Amino acid sequence: MSESLEPMLDLARRALANAHAPYSRFRVGACLRTAGGRLYAGCNVENAAYPVGQCAEATAIGAMVAAGEREIAEVVVLTERAELCSPCGRCRQQLAEFAGPDARIHLCGPEGVRVITTLGELLPMTFGPDALKRPT
Ligand code: THU
Repeated sequence: MSESLEPMLDLARRALANAHAPYSRFRVGACLRTAGGRLYAGCNVENAAYPVGQCAEATAIGAMVAAGEREIAEVVVLTERAELCSPCGRCRQQLAEFAGPDARIHLCGPEGVRVITTLGELLPMTFGPDALKRPT
């Protein structure tokens, strides 16, 4: 691991503490590191109309894009539960918009990193931005 994960874990912890998850009581925090080294965090934001809820990864991606960044190098997803919180299918696709297959995804709990995987492992045969490139 080239960079310490601690700053990412710390931001993910703080975001998790602010999660709005009154329905599932499953609080999630996420943190993205961009190619330029900046960190963006997010939490899940549930809604009384259940399908309208937003995952922690999506919140972090929104913060990154709003700040003018587009390239995700590394991701932390943090849960406080004993079960692993692996990005849902929608989040995998949203990450693939801004991250390559080698981007590391760290699945974490309160004790630290539980599993290290890559976006390519989580979302093989990705339909990504390259698929829509126009022929020159
Ligand atoms: N959740 C996330 O925030 N990220 C994921 O990748 C999986 C699920 C949230 C959505 C919902 O608020 C709660 O966890 C339970 O599904």
